[in-house]
Amino acid sequence: MIIAIDGPAASGKGTLARRIADHFGLPCLDTGLLYRAVARDVLAGGFRLDDTWAVVAFARCLDPATLDDEGLRAPGVGEAASRVAGIPEVRSALLEYQRAFARRRPGAVLDGRDIGTVVCPDADAKIFVTATPEERARRRHLERQAQGEPVTYEQILDLIRNRDARDSGRDSAPMRRADDADLLDTTEMGIEAAFDAAVGLILRKTSQ
Ligand code: C5P
Repeated sequence: MIIAIDGPAASGKGTLARRIADHFGLPCLDTGLLYRAVARDVLAGGFRLDDTWAVVAFARCLDPATLDDEGLRAPGVGEAASRVAGIPEVRSALLEYQRAFARRRPGAVLDGRDIGTVVCPDADAKIFVTATPEERARRRHLERQAQGEPVTYEQILDLIRNRDARDSGRDSAPMRRADDADLLDTTEMGIEAAFDAAVGLILRKTSQ
């Protein structure tokens, strides 16, 4: 069983994907980490993110064993990842790893921006998780405050709006809900309610 979870930054799709994977006993791939790792490697190698040749070269030799690096989840890395993710050759270099992960038995949960549309168009269940930019910014702001970061709600809202625009406005595999994906709007939901709703949608799809 392949489950595709897509959605914008801070929609809660990562937490949901991990919970869903545990529930169904499946491995989970956070595909954002691949783009984050490429950006990390480019910068660590002393290259610029607008050096397309270098970025593509790093994407082609990405070592998936380095995806558990905690540094990948730092806020600035998400921004950098979103910049390298717009390059079509970067996307194609990372595609086969994602598809091979999805093909493993007994299946997998993948979360990202283009899982239902490009990586796994034949997934058994697809969910597009969303929430208003204001609610996503509110959640992110609470997280950052708890980590002691001096960032304002307005700054986070700005970053979220810019990232949404970049991810959905690019030509190559833009973020969008697949035609056959269920929409899960978590604006008014806590994680437990969102998880229950997601499991219900998956069971409905897979028992059809
Ligand atoms: O989900 P996360 O915030 O870790 O993703 C970082 C960036 O990687 C996104 O903003 C997006 O540009 C890119 N990405 C993508 N396709 C995916 C997953 C992530 O383009 N499947």
